[in-house]
Amino acid sequence: MTTQRKIRVGFLGGGGILGAHMTGYPKLADRCEVAVVAEASPARDETIRKLVGANVPIVRDYREVLAMKDIDAVDIILPHHLHLPATLDAAKAGKHVLVEKVMARNVWECDRMIAACDKAGVTLTVCHDRRYHGEWMALKEVIDSGVLGDVFFWKLDHNQDVVLPPSSWAHWKDGIGGGCIMSCLTHQIDGLRWYGGEIDSVVCMTNERPERMQGEFLGVVTARMKSGALAELSINWWTRSHRGDNRLWYEMVQVCGTKGEAYRVDGRGTFIRLHDASDKAAVAKYGEAALNGFVKVECGAWGGHERCVAEWIAMLRGEPAQVRTSGRECRGTVEVAEAAYRSVTSGRRISLPIKPRKWQPCGMPENLAGIVTSREVSYHVDAGAKR
Ligand SMILES: NC(=O)c1ccc[n+]([C@@H]2O[C@H](COP(=O)([O-])OP(=O)(O)OC[C@H]3O[C@@H](n4cnc5c(N)ncnc54)[C@H](O)[C@@H]3O)[C@@H](O)[C@H]2O)c1
Repeated sequence: MTTQRKIRVGFLGGGGILGAHMTGYPKLADRCEVAVVAEASPARDETIRKLVGANVPIVRDYREVLAMKDIDAVDIILPHHLHLPATLDAAKAGKHVLVEKVMARNVWECDRMIAACDKAGVTLTVCHDRRYHGEWMALKEVIDSGVLGDVFFWKLDHNQDVVLPPSSWAHWKDGIGGGCIMSCLTHQIDGLRWYGGEIDSVVCMTNERPERMQGEFLGVVTARMKSGALAELSINWWTRSHRGDNRLWYEMVQVCGTKGEAYRVDGRGTFIRLHDASDKAAVAKYGEAALNGFVKVECGAWGGHERCVAEWIAMLRGEPAQVRTSGRECRGTVEVAEAAYRSVTSGRRISLPIKPRKWQPCGMPENLAGIVTSREVSYHVDAGAKR
């Protein structure tokens, strides 16, 4: 059933990623409204007002938002360890949930979020923004068209230069859910699952440097897909290869098949090369040049957060929507990251599915459990990373 009414959204959290979400809402002003922001730190007030408007109230405790009867839905952009409790509280209050990636710290938490939303009859959507990004979507279209033949290899990586001091929730395993793999390689894991189907097993190695963060700052995952293809995923949070002149990239996806290959690199776009001249339809579509080199594929110009918010609001209004990141769907992404951690601790290859286990505390100080000093985070990212 469609509704003509504007969906009233409350933000739970108002930190760094608020700006990315606010690329979406203003474009939907006839269909929804950001009605309130819950942000614990007053230091964020000025930025929040600039982003959402000076008239939108800011409250300190997210439960105040959940108590507001006229709020239909919440956009949760809190630290990872709060995704579970905030979602449980939101479901209990009858609010639909959009939760930023990563869905939660492990599958045990994901399962509780899914069950609570099911029980309350509210929707649970994860903002895995890459699935909604124009260039990532263009690569998905190429893959799904079958033009690459049998896909046998995937390579995805993520590069940033991130130092997280102990004053930040993200420094701590308890806050971030492990380290850079759970935090951000989940972008690549989620993309891989979306493009190539489910993963059969993983082997993982990591390195830690406690002065940068408690968990791993570096991770390499090799995976066998259920399709039989192999995948290589890496995350490096101590590199500037993606910045400055003659840079490499922030994120890259490469896919190789028996009839062609394709890749997407941030800031450059999505490209395809054909190996099979007998596929006349493909040659007609991408041109003869695609037989001799990579040619650019046409991509939508929208960002991932912007589009995810738009599809979510459309879904809540009962309009045609392409929400492809339900809690149930995205649980699998957390499961792969958790399996990777189990590979590190056991030194073995881990097959999926894994048995859920409750989070075991790793020593995050009590006084960080809620409040975060995000200004102290040294987060060196380029423009492409800020989507
Ligand atoms: N998709 C992307 O590319 C991307 C990039 C960065 C962050 N993120 C995600 O966004 C989410 C938030 O990350 P961030 O970088 O904005 O972190 P952040 O530390 O900048 O923001 C978190 C905010 O939550 C507030 N907060 C903490 N406890 C609270 C509470 N109880 N009530 C109200 N506010 C509270 C903090 O004060 C802080 O301002 C995470 O899930 C993260 O993984 C996604």
